[in-house]
Amino acid sequence: MSTITLTIDGQSVQVPAGTTVLQAAEQLGIEIPRLCYHPHMTPPTVCRLCVVEWEGARTLVPACVAQVREGAVIHTASERVQRARRTILELLHSAVDLSETPEVVRYDAQLGVDAQRFADGARREAPFYDDNPFYVRDYEKCILCWRCVQACGDDMQFTYALSLGGRGFHTHIATFFNAPMPETTCVFCGNCVGVCPTGALKGLDEYLLEQGVSFEALHQEKRKRKQRRKEE
Ligand code: SF4
Ligand code: FES
Repeated sequence: MSTITLTIDGQSVQVPAGTTVLQAAEQLGIEIPRLCYHPHMTPPTVCRLCVVEWEGARTLVPACVAQVREGAVIHTASERVQRARRTILELLHSAVDLSETPEVVRYDAQLGVDAQRFADGARREAPFYDDNPFYVRDYEKCILCWRCVQACGDDMQFTYALSLGGRGFHTHIATFFNAPMPETTCVFCGNCVGVCPTGALKGLDEYLLEQGVSFEALHQEKRKRKQRRKEE
């Protein structure tokens, strides 16, 4: 495999052809912010938080998928890049509850994000789904990163219980015909919960403990909920 030499933030680096800019930057110890990217999944390239400035390119380039080229000169933290990332996060804050996304808290501090900048913007409103014995879904925390859909589909489980519903601002993660999870193809593998970066998907135990149910009462509470669901 051929080797590519490029420059990132003024430092020269050699990597194998096919390496992404994000991976090459990591080799230099440079962390590029990311939200939708997961190292073990197909990059959905939807959040654009990883954009970098590639000298000669008309637009900013998503580092998680752009592959290095010989002689490329890349800036991962120029003013233009930081402004783009800041605006993306400020727009996300305006629509979604990011309080359980630890990476965002860190990026906000790094980039000087004003979480209130678009405070008058529309919020994404969604029902809270508590329809199965294993996990809850709080889509007001969902950034539509697509990871859960991929985990349920071709990247992990091949179950395809999740997809996108709606359009534009009203786009949301949905089951087919909005069926309750137990009536879908879901096998409750938990992979979607494991890859969700925002707490929109959460294990039921974790959720109940957060709600103040004691560890000792957890089992009993789950039995009660199971019974309730049967009666509904
Ligand atoms: S529920 Fe979580 S994993 Fe699924 S799209 Fe929303 S934020 Fe991403
Ligand atoms: S991390 Fe690259 S587009 Fe989301």
